[in-house]
Amino acid sequence: MKLTSFSRSLLGAAILTLCAGNASAAEKVTLKLAHNLERSHVVHKAFEQMAKEVKELSHGNMQIRIYPSSQMGSARETMELLQNGALDMTKGSASDLESFDNVYAIYNLPYLFKNQQHFNNVVYGEVGKEIMNSTKDKGFFTMAAYVAGTRSFYAKKPITKPEDLKGMKIRVQASPTTLKMIELMGGSPTPISFGEVYTAMQQGVVDGAENNVPSWVQTRHIEIAKVFSEDEHTSIPDFLVMSTKTWNKLTPEQQQILAKAATDSEVYEQKLWDEVDKESREKAISMGATFVKVDKAPFRAAVKPLYDDFAKDPKQAALLAKFEAAAPQ
Ligand code: GCU
Repeated sequence: MKLTSFSRSLLGAAILTLCAGNASAAEKVTLKLAHNLERSHVVHKAFEQMAKEVKELSHGNMQIRIYPSSQMGSARETMELLQNGALDMTKGSASDLESFDNVYAIYNLPYLFKNQQHFNNVVYGEVGKEIMNSTKDKGFFTMAAYVAGTRSFYAKKPITKPEDLKGMKIRVQASPTTLKMIELMGGSPTPISFGEVYTAMQQGVVDGAENNVPSWVQTRHIEIAKVFSEDEHTSIPDFLVMSTKTWNKLTPEQQQILAKAATDSEVYEQKLWDEVDKESREKAISMGATFVKVDKAPFRAAVKPLYDDFAKDPKQAALLAKFEAAAPQ
């Protein structure tokens, strides 16, 4: 087919328009972020803050649409959606992430940190960043880490020594390290996704669970299990998970904007965490719940084989050495 000069110039104009259209379409991006926490949770609030900052910094060209409350499924399901390219971002606690890459197992070790400073040195320091960036070949990496307090047992009765767990079914996240921890302490671990725990407790499928104080109160598990026994076995951070595929599609400028907003959301969440922890404790007392002090020594002793297992694996042992080196003097 021969083109007249008129149709050639028409075609040229059309191609130009098309390119221009494509260019602005490429600049505009909407990222989907789904997670299993309620809107009242501080990590959700940190995500909202991040979405706001991203929109502002990109002058409205980048948006993050958030789907909270397990709308798109459990933590495991949203991770799978992300790996299959159906979701751009999600939240995973290190317990959820352990089954997707074993590098996250270490965070599920009980009595890992000496204090909050040690936790901060690790999670926000060099070794923490190494872990966050190490899984890109699995289709994901993590862009922000959030404080999630310490986890303890709660049930209808106090749990002050490992023997108290005998015969008790305890809800856990689907983390192999946590399952082993409960077994070593003498209980029966029962993995259930977060959104289904209330019903499981109500129906007596489990006799207790373990979590931080805000989650115990906000999920209303406290209505069924009123005794919180502070053995403080783990401090497991939550992470903002990013799809490697989506990340690679963003322009360097978009990547920069997202990275900045993600880091800022960490700081924002830390501040909110301290407030919500205090408020939740007060609320728990006002609801007639009780906090029980626990001697941690027998619990520490019971889980020692977990550390022996880690020491046998050269990769885990090297990571553990870095964690120990980050302890404040
Ligand atoms: C905490 C944590 C969540 C996690 C939940 C759970 O609330 O912040 O990320 O999903 O525990 O026990 O499943």
